[in-house]
Amino acid sequence: MRDQQQTKDRGPRVISISSGKGGVGKTFFSVHLAARAANRGLKTLVLDSDFGLANVDVMLGLVATGSIYDVLHGTRSIDEVIVATRYGFDVIPGGSSLSELAHLSAAQQLLILENLNKLIADYDVVILDNAAGIGDNVLYFSSLTEEPVIVMTPEPTSLTDAYALIKVLHQQRHVKRFGVVVNKAPASGALLAFKRIRSVVDNYLQAYCSFLGSVDYRQDIPQLIQKQALLSEFVSASGDADVFDKVLDQYEGAGTRELLPYWRRELLCMDESS
Ligand SMILES: Nc1ncnc2c1ncn2[C@@H]1O[C@H](COP(=O)(O)OP(=O)(O)OP(=O)(O)O)[C@@H](O)[C@H]1O
Ligand SMILES: [Mg+2]
Repeated sequence: MRDQQQTKDRGPRVISISSGKGGVGKTFFSVHLAARAANRGLKTLVLDSDFGLANVDVMLGLVATGSIYDVLHGTRSIDEVIVATRYGFDVIPGGSSLSELAHLSAAQQLLILENLNKLIADYDVVILDNAAGIGDNVLYFSSLTEEPVIVMTPEPTSLTDAYALIKVLHQQRHVKRFGVVVNKAPASGALLAFKRIRSVVDNYLQAYCSFLGSVDYRQDIPQLIQKQALLSEFVSASGDADVFDKVLDQYEGAGTRELLPYWRRELLCMDESS
């Protein structure tokens, strides 16, 4: 309750979850973070921004009657496609098999940002569960916040791909700060992996990475996900979930970047040139 009151005072938390390599645990992390936030009494929403490859609704066994696709096509309002979960948070499904949303136009990006800014007024926490890689949509959603969260594992390919994403976000989207979560690793291995990526970022970019924490590899997670259930100790307020609490605390008051004027300008330029 106190947390809820403080959030109202300090503004929303918009948390963008991305990765260079696929399958590192973004959706796993997003839904547990959301459940944890809901458990702390925060009104929480997850936007599945991996359009076309339903992540969140499948992981949670939700029956989606609409998706962001309907909003982008003007057939439904954003409120009409929000689905409530049994964990106390809401989800906006990304839709499935929609290859046409793989590259959002400037007009669609603007529409999403305007809708997101409206939702921020209703929610304490908005989590963006992004696709993997360095595609246009990923860059767009990752750079909506000042400090995107990058999820990686200690595998060399995951580290290299995480660095590639950080580099592109920094050089093309001028993102200067990144929060790093290491998944599927014991605490010591996770810290080592973080130090590796931080040293490359320190050496080659004018950007800053902070370590948010880690989640160990656990045999029971894939089965739980298959059963469309969440880990209760990560969800319950008294459980051992340092990384989720740290993210919620660190991102308090983190809204979207001031990108509306930028996208409006982009859109005007496109109109003029067509
Ligand atoms: N800490 C963990 N221990 C064991 N398995 C995990 C852990 N975290 C996630 N997984 C498993 O890894 C797989 C990929 O997880 P998830 O779907 O969250 O990744 P993702 O990054 O969202 O993937 P994509 O890039 O395809 O969206 C799932 O089968 C999930 O159950
Ligand atoms: Mg995913």
